[in-house]
This record gives sequence, structure tokens and C-alpha cells, in this order.
Amino acid sequence: MVSTAEAKQRNAIEVSPLPGTLGAEILGCDVRALDDASFPIIRQALEDHLILLFRGQQLSKAEQTVFNERFGVPAKAPRATRGVKERDNQYPCISLISNIKEDGVPIGSLGDGEAFWHTDTSYVEKPPSYSTFLALEVPPHGGDTQFTNMYAALDTLPRDIFERIRDSNLKHDSTYNAGGELHVGAKHTKDVVNCPGTVHPIVRTHPVTGYNTLYLGRRSNAYIDGLPVAESEELLNFLWQHAVRKEFTWTQKWRTGDLLVWDNQCLMHRRDAFDGQHRRLMHKAYCEGTRPFRSPDAFARPPHPRAAKLVQQMLR
Ligand SMILES: [Fe+2]
Repeated sequence: MVSTAEAKQRNAIEVSPLPGTLGAEILGCDVRALDDASFPIIRQALEDHLILLFRGQQLSKAEQTVFNERFGVPAKAPRATRGVKERDNQYPCISLISNIKEDGVPIGSLGDGEAFWHTDTSYVEKPPSYSTFLALEVPPHGGDTQFTNMYAALDTLPRDIFERIRDSNLKHDSTYNAGGELHVGAKHTKDVVNCPGTVHPIVRTHPVTGYNTLYLGRRSNAYIDGLPVAESEELLNFLWQHAVRKEFTWTQKWRTGDLLVWDNQCLMHRRDAFDGQHRRLMHKAYCEGTRPFRSPDAFARPPHPRAAKLVQQMLR
């Protein structure tokens, strides 16, 4: 029996798909009041739309930690970049993405520059599954975040390219962050064969939805395992150019109180630069993921429903 309060909240939640091939806005939902009865609506919407936008949310670090735990086991925040202030040990899964400095020391990563297309922390053995990202302070212009649907990117590849990569693995370099800054303890290198990192399948089967997706980390120091470097570079240049075609992308123009949840297992993202005279502060948390794998059964499946129409149009 569902209580009146539960029913009221569950009925108030509305999933409103955004135009294009990814994203939905969730209306009528204060995530602090989410309960077990209404959460399955959100969970299903994430599988269907890959990224969810909740506007007007005001969350403390503790409340974001609780919300993040809805999507999986909280992951410890990734390696800090050099020169960034120590994290708040009370909330180890929250990292700060910010250009703000205190006593001359950055309180978070990425500054005010561009962040290149990437998948969060894909250079570890078990990369994070989902990210929750809350805007606390945003500049008046710039700093937009763009996402691309990697189900669509895979399913629209030219056949010959698809055949070349379907059984290949990709080295995900761990030297630099998405802004090109060195991770703590890393040394500058351009040696794609010997740089530190982890190898994952390029065609990855989503562990929840079961659809195949193109799985790229970041272009810098990427390497298709076992290929001559020149051939790997040529193929990767093509893949990156294809994966970020505007047909697959959606741009989030941030407002204070915007909260995004996104699926790192089927999306890449990037961020525009912004004027460093303005403050930008975001709180980010991750859920632990699983080791990426490729299931032979997934090759026979049709495209993910959110990408299906576009795939049909582009392959026509
Ligand atoms: Fe990121």
C-alpha cells in the first residue's frame, strides 16, 4: 500500500525528454525527498535518456552524497590534479570542479579553461558508472557542458571502420586530466605505447541496458592496443571526429541549482572555457563501476531506442 505522501510525490514526477538523441528533464522532483517508491521512475529514465536534468536543487555535500548513493556504491573522488587544495575528508566522494582560489590555491580542478572531450576517469580498471554534478555558482556566459551519445556514435560508424574496431582494445592514458593538466604523481609523456593507463574494449556492452556503445576515454595519449602508432592515430582521429558530430550531442547551459546525473558508460562530455573573472563552482560525485566488457550477444541487438531514429536516418 503506497502512502498518500508517497503517491503525491510519485505522481508529481514527470520525465520530459529533451530534443535530440539524449537527455530528459525531470520535473516536479526535489531530490532530497526522493523515496524508494518513486526512485525506479528516475532509474528507468536514466537508462532511457542517458542523462537527467533536475533544476532548482539545493543540496549540501551530505545530501548530494545520499542522492549519489541511489545510483550505486559511492566511489572515492579521482586523483587530484597538481597544485589543487586537499579534499574535504568528511565527504570523500565529492570533488570540486572550480576556478576559485583561496589564499592563492585552487580549491578545485579544471580552472577556467576548456575541458576536452572525455569519459570520466576511464583510465582505471573499473571506471565510474554514473556521475552526479551540481551547479553551486555559474558564470554569466561560457562554461557550458556538452554531451555526446556513444550508442549513436557506434551504430552510425561506416561498416569498414566498425569491422576494424569491433574486437579491438584501447589504452586510456592516466597522465593528464581533461584540461591537459598533470595528475598528481604523473610525468609528462607523449609516448602512447608506454604511457601509464588501462586497456578497455573499444566496443563496450553496457552492463545494465545490454546495448553496445563506443567507449573512448580522452584523445590525448590514446592508443589502439597492438597497432602501429600511425595506424592507431589515423583510426582514432576518425573515431573522435565521428563521435562528436553535432547530431549526437546536447549542451547543458548551467543555472545555479542545476543537478545532472549522467551515465559514463555510454556518454562522453566536454566543457567550454569561460571568463576567469567570474566564479564557477560545481560539486561532483561518482558511483563505482564495473570492469568494461564486450558481450558477443550484444552485437545482434537493435540500436538503443533513444538513438534508433537517428541511426536509421544516417544509415539510409
Ligand atoms: Fe568530466
